Amino acid sequence: MITRRAAGMGAAASFAVAAAHSPAAAADTIELPTPRRTGGRPLMEALALRRSIRAYSSKPLPLQLLSDLLWAANGINRPAEGGRTAPYWRHIMVLDTYAAMADGVWLYDPQAHRLLRHSREDIRADTGLQDFVGGAPLNLVYVAHGERMHDVSPPERRFFASVDTGFIGQNVYLFCASEGLATVFRGAVPYERLEKRLRLPPEQFVTFAQTIGYPAA
Ligand SMILES: Cc1cc2nc3c(=O)[nH]c(=O)nc-3n(C[C@H](O)[C@H](O)[C@H](O)COP(=O)(O)O)c2cc1C
Repeated sequence: MITRRAAGMGAAASFAVAAAHSPAAAADTIELPTPRRTGGRPLMEALALRRSIRAYSSKPLPLQLLSDLLWAANGINRPAEGGRTAPYWRHIMVLDTYAAMADGVWLYDPQAHRLLRHSREDIRADTGLQDFVGGAPLNLVYVAHGERMHDVSPPERRFFASVDTGFIGQNVYLFCASEGLATVFRGAVPYERLEKRLRLPPEQFVTFAQTIGYPAA
């Protein structure tokens, strides 16, 4: 596992990492461009288009779209108080969002709106039990910090963390519907294998995963 540190790379170099998924890319941080907070389809149109799609092009997402997507998923929409685009249990943020892409695994840092490299391994195929996950450009993996959930039993931890994840998943669905992207929220996940590949400590667990990309032509 690679230490989560800023590499001080310029925006152009960071862009190359996300856009080209170059195996030689060395950056440990991708500074995401400011997310667009306007535009997109009207909500009712996005709702009308929302659906699950299971056939993907391998084309990577441009950096601006990745930035917008992560912000829509669970970014900070009220900077003064750190409020998020998705609601969460007891005002305790228990979820991390990992982005599994061809060039490795990245952890979304909502405070700085950037991606921190978690590993250089392509683990996309291990984020699910369906064939399309390994070829899609992006699989989000939602990870809960059980240790942050005090006074509740392990089943309740999984329950509340799953509900939190569902809200994020729907944000992603609506964003994808708005942008003409394909997505599917997934519980068919090889949990033990994926947690091992992510090298999660025992108190953390995967709740769900979600594939995102351009629909296959
Ligand atoms: C909790 C949950 C788990 C899901 N797991 C999977 C999955 O592992 N694989 C998959 O292809 N779809 C999965 N889905 C997507 C559903 O199959 C899909 O939403 C449902 O069939 C309705 O289709 P629609 O989303 O196109 O309306 C899941 C949905 C939810 C809410």
